[in-house]
Amino acid sequence: MKHITVLQKEAVAALELSPNSIVVDATFGAGGHAKLICEELSNEGVYIGIDADKTAFEGNTLEGKQVAPTIHLVNDNFANLSDVLGSLHIKKVDAVLADLGWRTDQFTDGGKGFSFNGDEPLLMTYGNPESYPFTAYDIVNSWEEENIADILYGYAEERHSRRIARAIVEARKSDEIKTASHLAAIIESAVPGFYKNGKIHPATKTFQAMRIAVNDELGTLERFIASALSHLATDGILAIITFHSLEDRIVKLRFREFAKTGEYFIITKKPIVATRAELLANPRARSAKLRVIQKIT
Ligand SMILES: C[S@@+](CC[C@H](N)C(=O)[O-])C[C@H]1O[C@@H](n2cnc3c(N)ncnc32)[C@H](O)[C@@H]1O
Repeated sequence: MKHITVLQKEAVAALELSPNSIVVDATFGAGGHAKLICEELSNEGVYIGIDADKTAFEGNTLEGKQVAPTIHLVNDNFANLSDVLGSLHIKKVDAVLADLGWRTDQFTDGGKGFSFNGDEPLLMTYGNPESYPFTAYDIVNSWEEENIADILYGYAEERHSRRIARAIVEARKSDEIKTASHLAAIIESAVPGFYKNGKIHPATKTFQAMRIAVNDELGTLERFIASALSHLATDGILAIITFHSLEDRIVKLRFREFAKTGEYFIITKKPIVATRAELLANPRARSAKLRVIQKIT
């Protein structure tokens, strides 16, 4: 399924680009923000697109345009921003954008078990599973029951965390839990009846929590914010789109802390959210929040 870019115009407008800007798009994804950013840049501008998942760059149409900025596409984690910029011999940038989480095709047919409908292996890593300390398979097949319950509650506020963790540990005694659909079936069997008829599938929160844990999404975001801000040129802008309250809280609090130093100014006192028209066209935009901060000295 094709990814629809969220807050496309709003996020790119927030970057206040000039034709010769040096821009980092930390989550290249399906290239939706990238396209609009590159349209704003002349051949004196530089566009750096990063994605932890190298399949994001397959079939991209950015390179080879007649008038276009210099384009660098880098397969790396955005937490390694300093190294990425170092390898390109770039010290300061004018704008950084991150549009967090997953893109639709990763979710629907990425082969890594992000969605509970598929018969896919339980990996849930954005990048190459071999470069991660553990995968979702490791969580469900070898973690202690209590630790499983803790991430379900801590990362997704799953109120049936203890029941689900117990069911996972019981199920793995007879057979390894290998696929996303197997895990989803265990969760469904563990939760009370009314939970199955709710607005979301009973496995939604468990899958969210595992994805956050496997990718260390919160720690990675913290490291990324500090690194991105340290590389902003004067007047440079960092814009981040989040999709759940834990991420948004980190962005809000870190922006506040950095603004207190007097070196940065928070442009969005309240986050920018999708318009009604966008919400109608793309339900995923419902939870999107865009926050923007500027380096002033
Ligand atoms: C929501 S999509 C971005 C969509 C993109 N802005 C667009 O307009 O098409 C998020 C992308 O970020 C990537 N990603 C998630 N976490 C990452 C990380 N820590 N480092 C680098 N890329 C990451 C995912 O692989 C995914 O392709």
